[in-house]
Amino acid sequence: MTTPRRGISKAVIPAAGLGTRFLPATKATPKEMLPVVDRPAIQYVVEEVVDAGIHDVLMITGRNKRPLEDHFDRNWELEEALRHKGDLGRLAQVQRATSPAAIHYVRQGDPRGLGHAVLCAAPHVGNEPFAVLLGDDLIDPRDPLLSRMVDVQAEHGGSVVALMEVDESQIGLYGCAAVHGTGQADVLRVDRLVEKPAPGEAPSNYAVIGRYVLDPAVFDVLARTEPGRGGEVQLTDALQQLAADPSIGGPVHGVVFRGRRYDTGDRLEYLRAVVQLACEREDLGDPFRRWLQEYVTASMPFYADDAVPV
Ligand code: UTP
Repeated sequence: MTTPRRGISKAVIPAAGLGTRFLPATKATPKEMLPVVDRPAIQYVVEEVVDAGIHDVLMITGRNKRPLEDHFDRNWELEEALRHKGDLGRLAQVQRATSPAAIHYVRQGDPRGLGHAVLCAAPHVGNEPFAVLLGDDLIDPRDPLLSRMVDVQAEHGGSVVALMEVDESQIGLYGCAAVHGTGQADVLRVDRLVEKPAPGEAPSNYAVIGRYVLDPAVFDVLARTEPGRGGEVQLTDALQQLAADPSIGGPVHGVVFRGRRYDTGDRLEYLRAVVQLACEREDLGDPFRRWLQEYVTASMPFYADDAVPV
């Protein structure tokens, strides 16, 4: 078991969104349960939390919470059946999903936005800084981000967001940060945040991605934050208030992430995640890459007259 990191002992994973971009798959199943190769997306996220030394996880769930709870619970019958068959490899895989951390659940009721989902964590978190990880946002385990954010929070106090440079055409899909340098190559001070800026109004091309380490002062701010864009209580709006007035809960810093990230709530990104992670898997990679190469080569004539889609 990894040692708990300084100051952060709890992580919150909001997983109560409607997942409309992935309907109808998400009609009765949370999008966080969609498999990425052979594990649901949320399992990668919980493993990331544990790898950062945090062992208390609160999931914010909605009406479809059963599959999430069942996935992290023990399944004695299945374990017994695999043991009986001598299938110890699969038994280990099944057990790996079981309680890698103490997992708690709270229901959001109405999906009134990410900010509202985080506010539902207040009674569990109490008065200490905590991590937030979006359950559909995967960070490749080879490119650790959360542990760096925890260290930056310990150094600077306040709150820390994860920033990724995106193409200008994409910034309107994200919360966007106006920033200035701190002298540390991967750490920026956040001056201002705007949720999904209109074209031409983005203060930078730094997008806020789904990892946060937050000061508990965010709860009071969220409780006062009116619904914003899309009629939802936006976490970005509350963070903007913290950034604008550091006397509330300390400064807001951003850790610049340059590693591999997949938004599994988006269909195209999801497909990329599955293909890329499958290609890199030790047990599947060779035959899958061979098939993929043959498939792409065989499909080429269909695209011969057009540009090859990216
Ligand atoms: P998204 O912005 O991706 O929204 O939420 P969504 O509703 O889940 O998905 P689409 O856009 O309709 O396809 C970002 C994160 O916040 C959680 C989601 O589960 C996701 O992890 N969330 C969002 C909540 O927990 N509650 C909410 O009310 C909204």
